[in-house]
Amino acid sequence: MLGLKLPTDPRWVNIVEKNIEEILTDHAYCEQKAASTAISLIVSFPEYTELVQEMVALVKEEISHFKMVHDKILERGWAMGRDRKDEYVIAITKFFPKGGSRTTQLVHRLLYAALIEARSCERFRLLSEQLEDKELATFYRNLMVSEANHYTMFLGFARQYGDRTEVDKKWQELLDFEAQVMQDLGKRETIHG
Ligand SMILES: [Fe+2]
Ligand SMILES: [Fe+2]
Repeated sequence: MLGLKLPTDPRWVNIVEKNIEEILTDHAYCEQKAASTAISLIVSFPEYTELVQEMVALVKEEISHFKMVHDKILERGWAMGRDRKDEYVIAITKFFPKGGSRTTQLVHRLLYAALIEARSCERFRLLSEQLEDKELATFYRNLMVSEANHYTMFLGFARQYGDRTEVDKKWQELLDFEAQVMQDLGKRETIHG
């Protein structure tokens, strides 16, 4: 599913279940970061008209996801805590060498975004299938569907703007690398941890 080469350790949901406040807080930041990634692409690549149009729509969608998660935190009587370091994102975004042409840099950012969306989608699926808290499970089922569309959109743009063969090769290499990173993860109550 989603091209990912290593499934998440199934015990991850058990860890998450013990600390719903933590997962919701971490998740709220993921949605914020998804919105700011879309804004940053609009700022950095204004001449890619089709991308800009789609990113405008994405900013709205991701910020609405943020509100949904934020509302869940408030409903449960909590307040959102401070941002956590996302070790997963820090690790995977070191994969491609810095620099290169504008198109190369764009392709790398689109592939990172596609990967983060794909892994988030896999995590949401696990939550939707395995959480004992059925209300939260339904919440994650709905989010899973939109994140799957984001993954295909980012990958599609990378293939459209870059050289198709080269992009596909880079995507496979990034997926291999991500599988190695994932071997040490799945042990914390965060969306990517
Ligand atoms: Fe989202
Ligand atoms: Fe997303």
